[in-house]
Amino acid sequence: MKKREIWASRVGLIFAAAGNAVGLGNLLRFPSKVALYGGGAFMVPYFVALFLLGIPLMILEWVIGRYAGARGHGSMTGIMGSLFHHANWARVLGSLGVAIPFLIVCYYIYIESWTLGFAFFSLLGQIPEPVASSDPKTAMTPYVEFFKSYTAPSPVAIFFLLVTLLINWYILQRGVVKGIEFTAKLGIPALLLMGIFLAVVSLSIRGGKGFEGLLYIYTPDFSRIWDPHVWLEASGQIFFTLSLGMGAIATYASYVKAREDVLKAGLWTAGINEFVEVVIGASIAIPAAFAMFGALAVPELAKEGTFRLGFMSMPAVLMALPFDWLLSALWFLLLFIAALTSSLALIQPLISLFEDEMRWKHSKAVNVSMLMVSVGAFLSAFLPGFIDELDFWAGTFMLVFFALVEIIVFVWIFGVHKFHHELTRDVFMKVPKGFVYFFAITSPIFLVALLYQWGVLQLPKVVASADSTVVIARLFILSTLVFLAFVAVDSRRRYLSGPHL
Ligand code: TRP
Ligand code: TRP
Repeated sequence: MKKREIWASRVGLIFAAAGNAVGLGNLLRFPSKVALYGGGAFMVPYFVALFLLGIPLMILEWVIGRYAGARGHGSMTGIMGSLFHHANWARVLGSLGVAIPFLIVCYYIYIESWTLGFAFFSLLGQIPEPVASSDPKTAMTPYVEFFKSYTAPSPVAIFFLLVTLLINWYILQRGVVKGIEFTAKLGIPALLLMGIFLAVVSLSIRGGKGFEGLLYIYTPDFSRIWDPHVWLEASGQIFFTLSLGMGAIATYASYVKAREDVLKAGLWTAGINEFVEVVIGASIAIPAAFAMFGALAVPELAKEGTFRLGFMSMPAVLMALPFDWLLSALWFLLLFIAALTSSLALIQPLISLFEDEMRWKHSKAVNVSMLMVSVGAFLSAFLPGFIDELDFWAGTFMLVFFALVEIIVFVWIFGVHKFHHELTRDVFMKVPKGFVYFFAITSPIFLVALLYQWGVLQLPKVVASADSTVVIARLFILSTLVFLAFVAVDSRRRYLSGPHL
């Protein structure tokens, strides 16, 4: 069997995994969701979901990734297959775990390219000047217009999309150690420094008025505790931010050495991600908007869409401060680094599928993967509504569904005993078997409840709204699923007739 790469060092592995999880989810999606679903009211289900779903699933994906990596598989297609003698059902089911990250990256990478474009515009002093007004709507007008004309898409936006695709292609071409691990070792420390700096700036705007925003997030509020919508959104955010329920963590975990302490690695990944979310992420966009526009304006701003806070109100705030261009450039550079280390992780499952299952050469696997991503990215750029449709299906619903599949397959079908054996092998702490039983029962109940609520609350609305771009988006999703299922079956046949059994 061709030798697979492994992470060169423990630090590199942790940084790479942190880069995987830390992304636009932490710095943009989180503040918007918090603002939209009531600050302290959102944080109660958020932390419940973190401990009941997030951390257990994180560890599950690490354990399973190590197991399958040692057997030569890094994509969910091969990972699920390797547990069940490569039965077709397992490989096809697993191919969902390649489809989801692929579908996400199709729009994620386009948003990533905005951050790069906006960083350049900031450095060149091209971000509009603020208008003096205490009314947030008026103050934001130039930024709304700037954002709209940029994402129309403008030729510049397409230029930066191409640059972003090229950067991703180049890093992935260099491979797991020289590409991904190297990028993360530079990127994550820079990200932490810039993040902490911008958090301090945001909190201290107008003599510390930003702290009110932090209070808004961290004053527990039980008034909406029975609102299923808030639960759905909070759990969805946990999956999205920790990169769970899509096989992307397991793919990174498949590149560890055979006796890596995956329990430690999982806890570090979740720990760093949560630090960048609930400490740094919570201290930038919301406090800044609070200080500038006041408490009432923030939920209003968030209502306009997940990215308004980041791309419109943040520049509006920063451009009113000293060294405006520098602060704004730092903000978008921070977003770019966070997004880049995540987009690499979103594409790697596809590369791993082509390399490990199809036995393609690395360069071919990367080229074909990037070609597919480019098609999706251009559709995201040119079809209005494409991003939202993909974010809904792949970025929310499928995650919850696939997390359920993972638990059933890796714990129930694989067996609690065998899973527990893998979980306690070569790790610093022996997790009692009772925990596995507890988790094997509680998390599926939690997930089924979420899916049920989703079916009742969202599905009718979603099905009702079907204009032509929505139909194209759904066809795109469907053909991805069919194509990857076909690859799963086809690669099995190739493999069986090859010399590697
Ligand atoms: N966790 C990333 C973020 O917070 C986004 C993401 C979701 C992701 N799923 C992923 C990144 C899979 C890499 C792999 O922005
Ligand atoms: N004997 C094979 C091996 O471990 C098992 C295997 C790996 C396999 N990948 C597969 C079998 C794909 C069928 C299809 O190398």
